[in-house]
Amino acid sequence: VTSERGREPRVTVRADGGRADYPVVLAGGALEWLGELARERLPGVRRWAVISDTTVAPLYAPAARASLEGAGLASSVHTFPAGEKNKTRKSWSILTDELVEQGLGRDGGVVALGGGVVGDLAGFVAATFMRGVPVVQVPTSVVAMVDSAVGGKTGVDTGAGKNLVGSFHPPALVLVDPTTLRTLPPAQRAQGWAEAVKHGAILDEPYLRDLERDVEGLLGADAAVAGAAVARSIELKAGVVGLDEREADVREVLNFGHTLGHALEAESGYELSHGSAVSIGMVLEARLGESVGVTARGSVERLAAVLSRLGLPTTPPDGLDAARVEACTHRDKKVRGGHPRFVLLERIGSVAQEGGWAREVSSEAVLSVLAG
Ligand SMILES: NC(=O)c1ccc[n+]([C@@H]2O[C@H](COP(=O)([O-])OP(=O)(O)OC[C@H]3O[C@@H](n4cnc5c(N)ncnc54)[C@H](O)[C@@H]3O)[C@@H](O)[C@H]2O)c1
Ligand SMILES: [Zn+2]
Repeated sequence: VTSERGREPRVTVRADGGRADYPVVLAGGALEWLGELARERLPGVRRWAVISDTTVAPLYAPAARASLEGAGLASSVHTFPAGEKNKTRKSWSILTDELVEQGLGRDGGVVALGGGVVGDLAGFVAATFMRGVPVVQVPTSVVAMVDSAVGGKTGVDTGAGKNLVGSFHPPALVLVDPTTLRTLPPAQRAQGWAEAVKHGAILDEPYLRDLERDVEGLLGADAAVAGAAVARSIELKAGVVGLDEREADVREVLNFGHTLGHALEAESGYELSHGSAVSIGMVLEARLGESVGVTARGSVERLAAVLSRLGLPTTPPDGLDAARVEACTHRDKKVRGGHPRFVLLERIGSVAQEGGWAREVSSEAVLSVLAG
């Protein structure tokens, strides 16, 4: 991973052990460069299908199309109703049919313009259309910028659970324009900053310090402040997912806060949003680490302070059934041999590694942090 930060942060990502390198271009106003960069990066693509949702399309699809047209590239816009409940096979089939009707062929490409729902769904359309056409990810939410646009995971939900059908389809290019965050509702912004705090907590203490200093600018969607944070988060995530496949276990560190986070999310019937659940999950897993003597004292307090300043919850919802949440961790998809595994911090900025990046912890210890 290389980066030239400063005037114009530009991060180059090596994902998939080098088999799928792709650039991440990040700058205020970068949406205007879409056409030029797409043509430069993918000269063989003749026609672009811009896929977006009904909230983001009216805001940014005209600029995306104008930029593609300015670069002499044909395009069409395809939307689906905003919201996680539409990240489905049904939306996938409607969009796919539209692309066929548009005459998009193997020389076509997809622009995924929107939040994580658009990125996952449009990425999956691209992964499967004509056995795969390139996708350019243009994330417009904090979650999509700091997390979903990089890493190559695409997919849809089914009645049985989230992200159960999907594919790895790394983007050809990621284009991040932090000025688009201005229209994102503030509560949605905080959801994504939870994952940025995670990146600092597991990998980079000075980055967490930057986030603590910049809370106001992050919540206010100040493009320079948000852009710098997104650039650092992408570098950190890319550094982990880009590691050689033999070291794929390192990716487990990204699961910090997620073992309990996923359990809380599921146990609430998905009332609790992912970012909020992960916020609580990080505080509880840090407490778990402190309680078993692995995590440096004071880590819980520091994490809880910055998360609550970001407007995120740090304690489980009232009336939570600790035993049910604990039972839920045994059904997490990352479970091996029926035992949930936890990523424990050594201290802020580094994960404790002892026979692996994640470890089993006794149910008693887990129940005890859940009970508060
Ligand atoms: N592939 C991965 O690795 C990965 C990682 C993390 C999350 N995800 C997925 O991401 C999804 C969550 O992403 P999300 O939180 O961005 O949800 P989202 O895409 O639903 O966006 C949240 C809301 O904000 C709106 N929005 C987005 N950008 C906007 C903007 N600039 N201005 C105004 N409104 C805007 C959207 O229309 C939507 O209503 C989940 O489906 C999750 O599974 C995937
Ligand atoms: Zn997450």
